[in-house]
Amino acid sequence: MTVKVGVIGTGMIGQDHIRRLTQVLTGNQVVAVSDINKEQAEKVAGAIGAKAYTDGVALINDSDVDAVVVTSWGPTHEEYVLAAIAAGKPVFCEKPLATTQEACFRIIDAEVKRGKRLVQVGFMRRFDTAYRQMKAVVESGKIGAPLIFKSVHRNPSVPQSYTSDMAIVDTAVHDIDTARWLLGEEVKAVSVIAARRNSRGGELRDPIIVLMEMESGAVVDIEVSVNIDYAYDIGGEISGETGVVTLSERNGITVKSAGAFHGKVTADWKERFIEAFDIEFKEWLAAAGKGTAIGPSAWDGYAAAVATDAGVEAARTGTRVKVEMTDKPALYA
Ligand SMILES: NC(=O)c1ccc[n+]([C@@H]2O[C@H](COP(=O)([O-])OP(=O)(O)OC[C@H]3O[C@@H](n4cnc5c(N)ncnc54)[C@H](O)[C@@H]3O)[C@@H](O)[C@H]2O)c1
Repeated sequence: MTVKVGVIGTGMIGQDHIRRLTQVLTGNQVVAVSDINKEQAEKVAGAIGAKAYTDGVALINDSDVDAVVVTSWGPTHEEYVLAAIAAGKPVFCEKPLATTQEACFRIIDAEVKRGKRLVQVGFMRRFDTAYRQMKAVVESGKIGAPLIFKSVHRNPSVPQSYTSDMAIVDTAVHDIDTARWLLGEEVKAVSVIAARRNSRGGELRDPIIVLMEMESGAVVDIEVSVNIDYAYDIGGEISGETGVVTLSERNGITVKSAGAFHGKVTADWKERFIEAFDIEFKEWLAAAGKGTAIGPSAWDGYAAAVATDAGVEAARTGTRVKVEMTDKPALYA
């Protein structure tokens, strides 16, 4: 079956997902795109023979659209995800699900009332082969009960507009979701410690360590460094009671010469997670074709928002902030 997709938001990642849908994956057709920037929507639509809308809700309610991708700015996500649920259409929403935990909960409420999963949130690391292998090792019991997860998130640089809060809300959010997913448990409390400032970042609080205590007592230590210049580097290691599992380097080859060895580190997140994004959309399309959603849910979007809110408060106040969540609806069991 061909899933007819409508994409809301034709900016950087919207265009990349449209490329993925139209040039990499099969079983779908992008039939409509929307952007408040009319000219851009028309240009992107024209290149693939799709309809162009400026009104995202009109795109959702177009009877030609079976499933929706939301890649517009974060503050617009709630309206579009709610409209897709109201229309009974599967919706892939880039992170964040919404910009407040209350808004995330309104989405959960609407989906629960609808009685089935329709929402998938764009936490693409869950589709990365190496992270999936890591999770399989944890679940196999080979390293015993997980005790510590160290996650490393390093960006070469960030734009001037990047703020200290964004290090938690936009960057560490991926590590926070990964920790919840790998360890299979919720976050209990968050603390944030700032290291000596990287002078390349000016006044930005960078790097930081986001320290999370999980329900079981396991500890998660996330390094966020966003001006480290050398490459985009993602690391992860779980120490368990009887062993350790570590993400390997991803340099397909290593060159040894002149008494040294060299390998490539990925340049940016698009390169590092290109396969994960492809698998994420392949699996989303398979579920959307059946009128439902899989993978990171609205609950995961909510849990991430609660944890990042706690992280922002912890960073601002220098205190350990407890994470308070509502009960998990049975739909997300
Ligand atoms: N999973 C990831 O790692 C990842 C990476 C990058 C971006 N993102 C997320 O994707 C989203 C988009 O990011 P981006 O970098 O592509 O931003 P962008 O600014 O390049 O593009 C966003 C587009 O949305 C459009 N837009 C804004 N309001 C709209 C509305 N009401 N209706 C329709 N279109 C609207 C803008 O005109 C713009 O073209 C953000 O939520 C961001 O956090 C996720």
